[in-house]
Amino acid sequence: MQKRILITGGAGFLGSHLCERLLKDGHELLCVDNCFTGTKQNIIHLMTNPNFEFIRHDVTFPLYLEVDEIYNLACPASPVHYQHDPVQTTKTTVHGAINMLGLAKRIKAKILQASTSEVYGDPSIHPQPETYWGNVNPIGIRSCYDEGKRCAETLFFDYHRQHNLRIKVARIFNTYGPRMHPDDGRVVSNFIVQALKNIPLTVYGDGSQTRSFCYVDDLVEVLIRLMESPDTFIGPVNTGNPVEFTILELAQKVIDMTGSKSEIIFKPLPNDDPKQRKPDITLAKKELGWEPKIKLNEGLKKTVEYFDNLLKANRD
Ligand SMILES: NC(=O)c1ccc[n+]([C@@H]2O[C@H](COP(=O)([O-])OP(=O)(O)OC[C@H]3O[C@@H](n4cnc5c(N)ncnc54)[C@H](O)[C@@H]3O)[C@@H](O)[C@H]2O)c1
Repeated sequence: MQKRILITGGAGFLGSHLCERLLKDGHELLCVDNCFTGTKQNIIHLMTNPNFEFIRHDVTFPLYLEVDEIYNLACPASPVHYQHDPVQTTKTTVHGAINMLGLAKRIKAKILQASTSEVYGDPSIHPQPETYWGNVNPIGIRSCYDEGKRCAETLFFDYHRQHNLRIKVARIFNTYGPRMHPDDGRVVSNFIVQALKNIPLTVYGDGSQTRSFCYVDDLVEVLIRLMESPDTFIGPVNTGNPVEFTILELAQKVIDMTGSKSEIIFKPLPNDDPKQRKPDITLAKKELGWEPKIKLNEGLKKTVEYFDNLLKANRD
């Protein structure tokens, strides 16, 4: 059945892939974005589709539309961008959530929140199950994002309890793939761009900190499964790839894959940088029958191809 779906942050990295997939599934899409970190370029290939509409709008202001479902993704996701204007980041997470929840309540739409593994902060247990309450610094430089996303989760659950809203909360772990922003400082895009330019790969700390990386197609699949799951399953649910790599292993892999002449250099760890991050995805497996399928090598290959083309196009 065709649905009308609103995606906030739809011109961003994850949002543009989600738009693409939902259009392919035959739905009608309203993509809302203020183009802070996203670009029209990410969705330009969808613009001619009669089922697709782009609306430039900032979610910190109310929005009146008629839709069946809302995916709330609007929010800069990388530290470089969310720390650029931290007050606006908190407004986007909190006011944005209030505005989208208000809309969902008015029109009786189902609404999904793109939350984050950052709600766990620098975790003291490993891997993190959804029952873990986190270890977050409320006054640090990452707090605008971490606490903003935590408050958004609170709002989602209160709208559910107080107004019976149909909600879904996904806690997204590191995701990568084509259309990541080349200068956003996220580790995968950083390493690939540095390797392709044959300049040193910057590792913060000694590189022994671990991360798990989920390819974007796997992530899009689990968001859709969550949205389509029974109303009784609301999450929060961890969505990510539990296979762990050290940052140093990732750097070496990228150098090998690109045939780069880059060396690896080490810089001090930024404040509040988590040492380990790995999702426990038992709940997603049980409730959504989902687990990631795309291996790091396969996903990295597609991402390297994307950045290679992007850098070539920028040179021409
Ligand atoms: N990519 C990841 O690894 C990851 C991990 C955890 C959570 N998430 C969450 O997923 C969502 C999408 O992340 P992404 O990686 O695609 O980041 P992104 O920066 O590429 O996309 C975010 C989009 O939101 C838009 N936006 C920002 N502020 C806005 C506002 N006030 N009004 C309207 N639009 C606004 C941006 O222009 C951009 O298009 C975010 O909510 C992020 O917190 C992503």
